[in-house]
Amino acid sequence: MLAAGGVAWLSYLQNRSTNDRLLNRNYLNTHHSLLNPPQKPPPQVEIDHTKPSTMSEPPPPIEIHPPLINSSNPWATDLEDLARLYRCESIGAITTRTSTLRPFKHDDAIHRYVFFNPSNHQASDSTNPAVEEASRRPHQRASLNSLGYSPEPLSTYLAWIRHISTNPHSPSRTRKPFIVSVTGTPEDVAQCYRVISLSTVGGIINNLYMEINLSCPNIPDKQPPAYSKVALVEYLNALRQELEERPEFPRIPFGLKTPPYTHSSEYHELISALEEAGDQVSFITCTNTLGSCLILDLEGKNILPGNGIGGMAGAALHPLALGNVATIRRMLDEREKLSHITVIGIGGVEDEKGYRRMRAAGAGVVGVGTALGVKGVGVFKGIEEGLKGEW
Ligand SMILES: Cc1cc2nc3c(=O)[nH]c(=O)nc-3n(C[C@H](O)[C@H](O)[C@H](O)COP(=O)(O)O)c2cc1C
Repeated sequence: MLAAGGVAWLSYLQNRSTNDRLLNRNYLNTHHSLLNPPQKPPPQVEIDHTKPSTMSEPPPPIEIHPPLINSSNPWATDLEDLARLYRCESIGAITTRTSTLRPFKHDDAIHRYVFFNPSNHQASDSTNPAVEEASRRPHQRASLNSLGYSPEPLSTYLAWIRHISTNPHSPSRTRKPFIVSVTGTPEDVAQCYRVISLSTVGGIINNLYMEINLSCPNIPDKQPPAYSKVALVEYLNALRQELEERPEFPRIPFGLKTPPYTHSSEYHELISALEEAGDQVSFITCTNTLGSCLILDLEGKNILPGNGIGGMAGAALHPLALGNVATIRRMLDEREKLSHITVIGIGGVEDEKGYRRMRAAGAGVVGVGTALGVKGVGVFKGIEEGLKGEW
C-alpha cells in the first residue's frame, strides 16, 4: 500500500533538488538571505503505520488568523511573490497560483489580463500591467483575464514553500499556512494531495492546505467541473479513496474553489455532490472569476487576445460573490454533516468595507485578488488599518 506513496515522495525529493538548482540559478543573486535555509540533514521519513482511519470524523479545520488572505492569482506566481506575501503581517495565510503536476504550457500571446474601470470600461494601456503601472489608475478596479495556470509545477511550489519556511530571517509571525492551489484530473488531484501531504513529513514544512481549483473559466472546451455534480463527485471520490488507502499519511485540510453560480440549480449540483461524497472537505473558496465576459475599446476592438473573452473579477464581481458566499453558507448550515465547512469569501474585496461585507455574508476568511494586482501587497495593511483590530 505504501509503495505508490513512497515513489511519490522519492520523486518529490528528486524534483526538489532539481528545483533547488533552478532556484539558486534564478534567484540567488537577488535573494541571498531568503535562499540560505539552515543546513539541516534531510528529514527522516517516519510515517505512522498504526494510525487508524479518521474517515468517520470531521476533517481538520483550517486555522487562519488574521482571517485575510491573497487569492490564487498571478501576483502569487514566483518565489519573490510568495516571500513578499509571507512577510506581510496583515494576512494569515498565503495562497499560491494554481499549479499542476506537470508544467502548464503558458502562452504569453494568449494568456493575458487587464484591469478596467467598471463604470466606463476604460482599460489599462497594456495587457499584464505591473502593480506600479496599475496603481496609477485606481479607478480600474475590475479585471478581465484569459490566463490558464501557472507555468511552474506543484513540485516547484513545494520547494519554494520549503525555502521560505526555513528562512531564518523570516518575521516572527510565521508558520502561517500556505494554501496550495492545484488542479488536473481527479487522479492528478489525488496525487497532488499525496505529494503535498508527504512534503510535510519530517516537520520542515507544515501547515499546508490544498485548494482544488475546479472553476477556471479559461480552459478551452472544458466545462469547469464545479458546475457538475457528476464531475465533482469524481474528484471527491478520488480524494476519499486516497484518504482510505493511506490513513497513515499526514492529513491535510483540503477545499474546493467554486465559480460564481448564478442559478439555484448550480448551487444544488455543488451541495448534492458534497452530501454524497464531501464530508472530508474542510473549506469552500468562492468565488473564481466570472467567465464569458468581454471588454471592448472605444473602437469596439477586443482588449484581450483572440476573441477577447475572459474571466471577470474585481469590483464588478463583488455583488455576485457576496450572493454566492451567503447562499453557500446558508446551504451548508442547513445540513448538519456539512456545517463544519469554512467558506473563504473572495470577489471584489478591496478595502475594509468589502471585508466587512464578506464577513457579514458568512465568510470565515476573506481573500483578495484583483485589488492585490492594482494596489500591491499594501492593500492588506490598508484593510487591517481600516478595521482597527476588529477582524
Ligand atoms: C489575473 C487573474 C488570474 C487568476 N488566476 C487564478 C488561478 O490561477 N487560480 C485560481 O483559483 N483563481 C485565479 N483567479 C481568480 C482569483 O483567485 C479570484 O478568485 C477572483 O479574481 C475573484 O477575486 P477578486 O475579485 O478579488 O479578483 C485569477 C484572477 C485574476 C484576476
